[in-house]
Amino acid sequence: MPRIQILPSELVNQIAAGEVVERPASVVKELIENAIDAGAGSIEVLLENGGKKRIEVRDDGCGMAEEDAGVALERHATSKIRAFDDLARVQTLGFRGEALPSIASVSRFTLTTHNGESDHGVEIECDPLTGERHVRPAARDRGTTVVVRELFENVPARRKFLRSAEAEFRSIVTVVSSYALPLPSRMFRLQHNGRTVLHLPPASSLRERIVQVLGNEAAESLTEIDESSGGTRATGFVTRGLRFGSRRNQFFFVNGRLVRDRVLTHAANRACEAFDFDGHPAIVLFLDIAPEAVDVNVHPAKTEVRFRDSGSIHIIVEQGIRRALAGPEEGTELLDSGLRTQGSGLFPPQRYDPLPTHFVPLFQGQPVVQPPVQTASATVLDEPMLGDLQGRVIGQYRMSYVVIDTPAGLRLIDQHAAHERVLYDRYLERITNRQPLSQQILAPILYEGGATETAVLESHAEELRAVGFEIERFSGNAFAISAVPPELLRGDVESFLRKLIDASLDEKAPHVTRVREKVCASLACQAAIKVHRPLGGDEMARLTADLLASSNPFACPHGRPVIVDIKHPDIERHFHRR
Ligand SMILES: Nc1ncnc2c1ncn2[C@@H]1O[C@H](COP(=O)(O)OP(=O)(O)OP(=O)(O)O)[C@@H](O)[C@H]1O
Ligand SMILES: [Mg+2]
Repeated sequence: MPRIQILPSELVNQIAAGEVVERPASVVKELIENAIDAGAGSIEVLLENGGKKRIEVRDDGCGMAEEDAGVALERHATSKIRAFDDLARVQTLGFRGEALPSIASVSRFTLTTHNGESDHGVEIECDPLTGERHVRPAARDRGTTVVVRELFENVPARRKFLRSAEAEFRSIVTVVSSYALPLPSRMFRLQHNGRTVLHLPPASSLRERIVQVLGNEAAESLTEIDESSGGTRATGFVTRGLRFGSRRNQFFFVNGRLVRDRVLTHAANRACEAFDFDGHPAIVLFLDIAPEAVDVNVHPAKTEVRFRDSGSIHIIVEQGIRRALAGPEEGTELLDSGLRTQGSGLFPPQRYDPLPTHFVPLFQGQPVVQPPVQTASATVLDEPMLGDLQGRVIGQYRMSYVVIDTPAGLRLIDQHAAHERVLYDRYLERITNRQPLSQQILAPILYEGGATETAVLESHAEELRAVGFEIERFSGNAFAISAVPPELLRGDVESFLRKLIDASLDEKAPHVTRVREKVCASLACQAAIKVHRPLGGDEMARLTADLLASSNPFACPHGRPVIVDIKHPDIERHFHRR
């Protein structure tokens, strides 16, 4: 037998699937692209278990004739390009003819389609192991439905890398809303475990669709971007005034294709850096460029592009966003570097509440910090030792740190981080023991977000209830909150929900793994005493004792340090006593 052989086609497809199908969100992406290319006016995505168990994408597009449907499942079968030259002018989202066979090779795959012309539709079911197909007639209206069950069932190594259903679900929410953005006239709906979590009915304009996705509060701050040079034009919207905790609401489209591109994100960052503000605006930017000036066939997933002249693209995008952010008053003299010093004029500089410079008396009395009861779980071997825990609170430094005199030296405790740790443990315990504590609020708080936010919040509702919230979705994207955990102030509820959503959607937040931990961490952060707040002696003593009894006194739930010890010998050395 020769040593070199041509691989069987099933294996070839599975190898290709490695590039195209990384996770449930990439399946949803490919199927939505196909539906859009088929001219669908309505696209529905139904998921079970974050798409790990089942993904269904239904459209009312052009459908396929029976013989085409069979061919569509072959590798390199496409209706979208015919010759090399077409590649340079491709208008459709797909063109490689790889998505369907790749997905079918790593899942239990069924395609049902009808082109509205033949007397019935057809259903094709594929066996991922043998590649065998079962074809039968099917009754349906014009359009296509693809069902993908048990993704990566036959590729255990891949299945292992899937994240929790929750995390996979969130990525899919982002995919669906980003594809919906440039296509306001089409209807998108996303259902998860039987509940509709995102519904975007046809909108009359791009602005209206952006508001559907980002929420009503974006409506007033959306400012148009329109910049062109040569044959290239950048259009779209940026929120002037409204900021988010991460860049998750920044979307870039090149000739209608959603891309992740360094040149574009860098240009956007530069534009924003010209202004002194916290947070990140939402950006929906469309770059229209001569097809010859951009190569879309750079990566199998087609999310990257290569510009022939990236320098000029950078200038147009940066300039367009800057001009929009600066607003009509300042829009004319853009490249004047005075912008930064001028400030955007939109935001007053952030200031802490002016507090009386209030002197906290030394807290003498009895030693207030009792050694914690050591439990097995509280001592982890390679953690720093608590040392001698007898200590005396001697004051507060900068209204932010509790200062303790211990036999080993001086100890500083970050009051916010310490309280965060204490509250985090408390919330986690309430959730785990299913013993929520709630406090009713007189007039319920109404919280309204965009479609993505709503979907995320909805998916956290169970944990929020378990920790003490009474939260109900009552219409569209609005929630009513009628009770909250007692530690949370009414005025902090909205900010808490916003931070929770940001933390959920921010892929880079490494410390958060499970929803309940994330809810507890965000809640603890919001409810914890802030820095720059004077504390009484009793408060400091209680906080310190609670901290030392917590599951990990050395780190807050986000992993930042809580305690800093300055050893007595070091202090003596500074005074040349040693
Ligand atoms: N929802 C759909 N409605 C109508 N036709 C479809 C649909 N999905 C796929 N097709 C047909 O099947 C063909 C193969 O789809 P597939 O996604 O595998 O490749 P592609 O979209 O051409 O390229 P790419 O691999 O880049 O996505 C398409 O070219 C299209 O003709
Ligand atoms: Mg495709």
